[in-house]
Amino acid sequence: MVTKKALITGITGQDGSYLAEFLLSKGYEVHGIIRRASTFNTSRIDHIYSDPHEEGVRLKLHYGDLSDAETINNIVYNVRPDEIYNLGAQSHVRVSFDVPEYTTNVVATGTTRLLESIRRSGNHIRFYQASSSEMFGSASPPQSEGTPFAPRSPYACSKLYAYWLTKNYREGYNMFACNGILFNHESPRRGETFVTRKITRAVAAIAAKKQEHLYLGNLKARRDWGYAPEYVEVMWKMLQQERADDFVIGTGETHSVEEFVDEVFDYVGLKKDRYVRIDPKYFRPTEVEVLIADPLKSKEALGFEPRIKFRELAHIMVDADMRAAGLEPVGEGDRILEQRFPRRWWAVD
Ligand code: NAP
Ligand code: GDD
Repeated sequence: MVTKKALITGITGQDGSYLAEFLLSKGYEVHGIIRRASTFNTSRIDHIYSDPHEEGVRLKLHYGDLSDAETINNIVYNVRPDEIYNLGAQSHVRVSFDVPEYTTNVVATGTTRLLESIRRSGNHIRFYQASSSEMFGSASPPQSEGTPFAPRSPYACSKLYAYWLTKNYREGYNMFACNGILFNHESPRRGETFVTRKITRAVAAIAAKKQEHLYLGNLKARRDWGYAPEYVEVMWKMLQQERADDFVIGTGETHSVEEFVDEVFDYVGLKKDRYVRIDPKYFRPTEVEVLIADPLKSKEALGFEPRIKFRELAHIMVDADMRAAGLEPVGEGDRILEQRFPRRWWAVD
């Protein structure tokens, strides 16, 4: 059997690391683009990396950057992948207000560079674009594939450009290019400054007596939070369909940041009022108030039905952060993982 090749931009991120693990478990040869940094930035993929001199190594890393067309072209040309997953991004919404031009360069123009590179290669490469529920912005919930977009940040505007360009290349050049419009998805590998992980890490640090307070911004914002490993499986499924299409992926539930704080503090038996403080610096110039997916299309076409919802997600993340802080986990999160995923393809953090 011929081994399929996948190329992942953003392989060192939360989703990229899970996706790489998933594709390796499916027998793929996985290529990832990593950025040169002065300290190691590969901690999420270290457990699946082997010395390239060893025989049969199927994970291969290449230095590159979405802001650098020449390198992207070389990698696409040399690797000749069957599938490309474009997950690389300056993905922090708040930060995109501080670095709007850079965010546009990587998220919007970076996608142009990749799509052009595929088109010019003349190869039949299936393309996945990591589109975002953030593109819905102020649109009334629930949000589906048919909801008009109303982006509220430089990040969202850049993602919307990349979304339309992906559609444009599909229609204009008959490319197999899909948009996965994913609602927020989290895990113990979530970046430390996104709100869920910031809260679960803080609770573990407070329990370990290493932190006194947790400073947050808008507690009223509502999000549809799912579990990242389930979301990367469905990225792959999109590229296995007969026809390229766009799909909304989410749980169909919404909860406020405050509810997440309550769930997490209750879980470890701490009183939130003693620890949680508000710092206006975490508010955004324009906020996305409510996101809720209408995931009917992905349920019917892809069979997507998330097994982890809000409460279980919070418990899984807290257990992992308690362990990382050198404490005994409460245990409910670990039990849920064992029960719901007896044949897990990813390493538990
Ligand atoms: P993440 O953890 O922030 O990972 C982002 C990845 O992009 C990292 O590997 C990062 O590399 C890489 N990257 C950043 N700038 C780059 C550049 N200039 N060139 C090449 N690579 C670059 O994000 P994530 O949560 O895994 O999300 C994956 C993708 O899905 C992103 O495009 C994100 O915008 C999108 N998305 C995420 C969610 C969500 O809830 N997680 C929802 C919808 C859409 P370093 O490790 O070197 O920084
Ligand atoms: N990060 C952060 N830090 N957010 C806070 C804080 C805080 O201290 N306090 C309140 N929030 C609120 C934000 O204002 C926002 O309404 C909500 O918590 C979620 O913020 P994030 O976790 O930073 O995620 P996001 O929704 O802005 O963006 C994430 O999801 C998008 C999909 O909808 C990112 O992963 C994006 O890359 C992704 O596209």
